[in-house]
Amino acid sequence: MAMTNEEFRMNAHELVDWMADYLENLAQYPVKPDMKPGDIKSQLPSAAPENGEDFQAIFSDFKNIIVPGMTHWQHPGFFAYFPANNSEPSILAEMLTATIGAQCMLWLTSPAAEELEERMMEWLRDILGLPKEFIGVIQDSSSSATLVALLSAREKRSGFEINRRGFSPADRFRVYTSTQGHSSIDKDVKIAGIGIENLVKIEVDANFAMQADKLEEAIIHDLADGLVPLAVVSTFGTTSSTAIDPIGAIRRICAKYNCWHHVDASYAGTALMLPEIREMAPDICHCDSFVVNPHKWMFTNFDCSAYFIRDKQALVNTFSILPEYLKTAEDKLVNNYRDWGVPLGRRFRALKLWFVIRTYGIAGMQQKIRDHIAAGQWLKEEILKTPGIELMAPVPFNLACFRFHPQGMDDNMALDNYNEKILEKINRSGSIFLTQTRLNGRYVIRFVAGQTHATLETVQKGWRSVVDISLINSTPK
Ligand SMILES: Cc1ncc(COP(=O)(O)O)c(C=O)c1O
Repeated sequence: MAMTNEEFRMNAHELVDWMADYLENLAQYPVKPDMKPGDIKSQLPSAAPENGEDFQAIFSDFKNIIVPGMTHWQHPGFFAYFPANNSEPSILAEMLTATIGAQCMLWLTSPAAEELEERMMEWLRDILGLPKEFIGVIQDSSSSATLVALLSAREKRSGFEINRRGFSPADRFRVYTSTQGHSSIDKDVKIAGIGIENLVKIEVDANFAMQADKLEEAIIHDLADGLVPLAVVSTFGTTSSTAIDPIGAIRRICAKYNCWHHVDASYAGTALMLPEIREMAPDICHCDSFVVNPHKWMFTNFDCSAYFIRDKQALVNTFSILPEYLKTAEDKLVNNYRDWGVPLGRRFRALKLWFVIRTYGIAGMQQKIRDHIAAGQWLKEEILKTPGIELMAPVPFNLACFRFHPQGMDDNMALDNYNEKILEKINRSGSIFLTQTRLNGRYVIRFVAGQTHATLETVQKGWRSVVDISLINSTPK
C-alpha cells in the first residue's frame, strides 16, 4: 500500500507536531528506559507483514513500542558519554536531506551537495582557527577519519606501494598514542593492517596528558630495533577526562622523526572556536590531519565528522579508484568525495551544518560553548566544596570526573564497588543519566555538560539529583 502525496503531506504534518511536542516535553520522559534485553523485540512480530499497513498503525507502534525503549539523548538529564547533539535547524535540514534522498558520491551526483560541503569545510576550518592550507571533508565518524589518516600516512610513507603490493617485511610500522587515546585508534590500527602490537601506548602525566619525553624515548627505542615510526595520534580532549596532550611538543617530535601527526579532537575540538581555548594548543595548526565531530558538541545531528588534512594528494592517492561507470567529464575540475574516504556512497551531510551555522551564527555558537564550559567549571567548584565527593581529574572544559568517598572508606576496591553501586542507583532514577570510566585504575563517574540545550540551570538541577539520589555517606542498596 503506497502512500500518496496527499497522505504524505498529512502524515508529515502530524509527525512534525509530534516532533515539536517531543522536544518541548522531553523532561517528562525517563532519560533512560528501564528495560531488559529482548523487551522490545518480543513486542515486534516475528515476520514482516504480507500486506501493507496503515500509517496510523505504524506511527502508533512507534509511539507505544519504540519511544518507551529509547534512551533520550537530548533529555535535560542526559550527562552521559559525550553528547550527540542535535538542534532544531539541524533536524529540519535532515528532513530535507531525507526528502531529496540524494546519494552524493560525485560532484555530478549532486553538484550543490559537493560544493556546499567544500564551503562548509572552509567555514568550519576558519571558525576553528585551522590554517588555510587545510582541506576538509565530512566523514561519518571519527573512527573513520582516524582510519583515513592512518591509511594516508601508511601510503604516503610507502610511496603508495602497500596499496599495490601489500605489506613487505620492511614495513614494520609503529603508531603512537597515549594510554588515554580512544579505543577507535586501536580498531583503526588493526584495520590498517599495522597490527595492534605495533600501537604503542605512551604514559600520561598527572593531568592524563601524553608525556612527550616518553614518546620520544619510545620512538628512539623503536628506531634502534629497526622499526618504522609512522604516526602519532594525539588527543585534544580525551574521552575519559578531556585531557589535552602537549600538541606542540608532539609536533616537534613528529617533525624530527618524520611521523604523521593526527590530532583527535573529536569532542573538544568544537571549543577551538573560542580564541581563549585556541591558546591552550596554539600548535594544533601544524598537525598533518585533524578530526572534530560537529555531531558531538556542535548542535548537529549524528553523523557529521569533519576531517581536515594538509596533503590532499596523499588522501586522494590513497583512496582513488576510477572504474568506467564512475567517470565524469568534470573529474579534473571538482572534488569527488568518493575518493576521500572508505565508502563510495555518501549522505548529504553538509546541509545540516549550513543550517546550524547560519541559524546560530559564530557568535551564537561561541556563546553556547562558553556557557557549557562555565557550567562545567561550576560543577568542578561544587565537587571541590562538597564533603565526601572527590574530583578525580582537571576540568579544562565541561566534563567533570568525580567519585564518592565516604569518611573511613579508604580501600580503593571498596570505593570502586561503592561508586559503581551509586551510579546504578542514580541511573535507575530515570531523571538523570551518567556514565563511568577508569582513571589511574580507579572507577570514576563522568558528568558532561555539553548537550545543545544544557544550561547552568539544567546542570545545577542534575547535580542536585546526583547528590540527593546518592544520599552521601549512606550505604547504597
Ligand atoms: C576522543 C574520541 N575520539 C574518537 C571517538 C570516536 O568517535 P566516533 O563515534 O565518531 O567514531 C570518540 C567517541 O566518543 C572520542 O571521544
